[in-house]
This record gives sequence, C-alpha cells and structure tokens, in this order.
Amino acid sequence: MRHEVRVAELPEELAAEATELVAEASCRAVTDRGRFSLVLAGGSTPRRLYGALAVEPRFRWRETLFLFGDERCVPPEHPRSNYGMVRQSLFEPLGLPDRQVRRMEGELDPGEAAERYQRALQNTVGDDPFDLVLLGLGADGHTASLFPGTTALDETRRRVVANHVPQLHEWRLTLTLPALTSAREILFLVSGADKAEILAEVLDNRPGESTYPAQRVLRESSRRTVLCDRAAAAKLP
Ligand code: 6PG
Repeated sequence: MRHEVRVAELPEELAAEATELVAEASCRAVTDRGRFSLVLAGGSTPRRLYGALAVEPRFRWRETLFLFGDERCVPPEHPRSNYGMVRQSLFEPLGLPDRQVRRMEGELDPGEAAERYQRALQNTVGDDPFDLVLLGLGADGHTASLFPGTTALDETRRRVVANHVPQLHEWRLTLTLPALTSAREILFLVSGADKAEILAEVLDNRPGESTYPAQRVLRESSRRTVLCDRAAAAKLP
C-alpha cells in the first residue's frame, strides 16, 4: 500500500497542513489543466480546514469546481447536511458563486438524487478524474458514505449511488469506489483519540483482503496521503 502518512501534533496544525496540501494541489491543477476539481468531505473534522481554506491566499478557489463525496439525505438547511456545513465554513466566507458548486440534493428521493448527481458529474468533469478528494474516516472504517457491509461497496460502474445504511437506519448519497479510487489524489483527514484504533487497523500493511471501506480506497488508489493528528496516530507503530 503506497501512501504517505503525515502526523501533525494538534488539530489546528492538521488543518494548517491540509490547507497547504489543498492550496498546492489547486495551483498544480490550474497550471496543468486550467481548473481544479475538489471533492469535499463531510462530518466534523474538515470544518477547521474549510475555515482556513477560506482565507488561504494561495488557494485557487476562483478556478475550483466544488463537489461532494457524500451527503446525508436531508435538506441543505438541515443541521446534519454536509453541504450546509461547507456553505457556512467555506462557500459563504469566499462569497462563492453557486455555479462553482455541485450539491448532492439530499432533499430528493435518494435514487433520483443519485441519478441527478451522476449527470451533474458527467456535465462538469466528464470522464476526467477528480483532481483531489478529501475523505474522513469513521470509527467503523467507513469513508464518504461507504459503510461496511453496504451495497454501495459493490458498485463498479456508477460514480454516485444512493446507499441504505442499516447501522444508521438511514439513506445516504455517496461517491463509489470507482469514483474515489480513480482520483488523481486522495487526502484522508483523521483527528482525535477515538480514531486511533481504526486508523492503525486501516493502515495495517499486512497482506490480505481489505477489511474496511477506507482500506479499499487506500489500497485501490494511486496517490494518497493520510494526514492525522497525534491523538489519532497514538496506535501507529
Ligand atoms: C459524513 C462523512 C463521513 C465522515 C466520517 C468522519 O457524511 O459523515 O462523509 O465519512 O468523514 O464519518 O467524520 P468526523 O470527521 O465527524 O469524525
């Protein structure tokens, strides 16, 4: 498993280092291709990063297409909406025009929302791989909304699907393994002592089949970095 693991001392430093990596990736993409396609992660960890990105002068946000890795099936103004969290922490501080964002429509029927997002991806990035995908890690080894044992893990064709998550008794929208693993670059952001156990298991280099969705993403992608803080790194060898 060829990946780089970087450990920052504190969550603030993790956010600062991640900001650096995203800004650099945006400069490379704009230089090479005139545009930067960035897939955003949900949850709580990336919020600090988004706040720092909003004031990072080297981040080429004007040439960035903002996409989402997953969404809860709730309206955008719902407190659990990933879009709502990013709008508040990044889009509004940037004064970002809506045309630069493709939101997963969590308020719609999940199947319809997935089909609409599939079309949105086709109409924006086409068959081009995402330049950078930001991902979090759940304590059960999920990433995006690819939860252990759920049907989305078996999708080999579509880039986005509706995924029923029995563990949560809810539907989610999520990019699939083919969509994530074809990205030019992947950056996992992992923070907190509650992730120490799962991070050590996911990064376990012993051969054998991948046990966790996050491990599959790591094993099946080309270029990826795992950025964690000292608390999350506590059980790494
Ligand atoms: C979501 C995320 C999910 C998240 C992990 C980690 O919609 O919840 O996409 O994959 O990244 O659950 O969440 P925290 O950052 O809150 O620990």
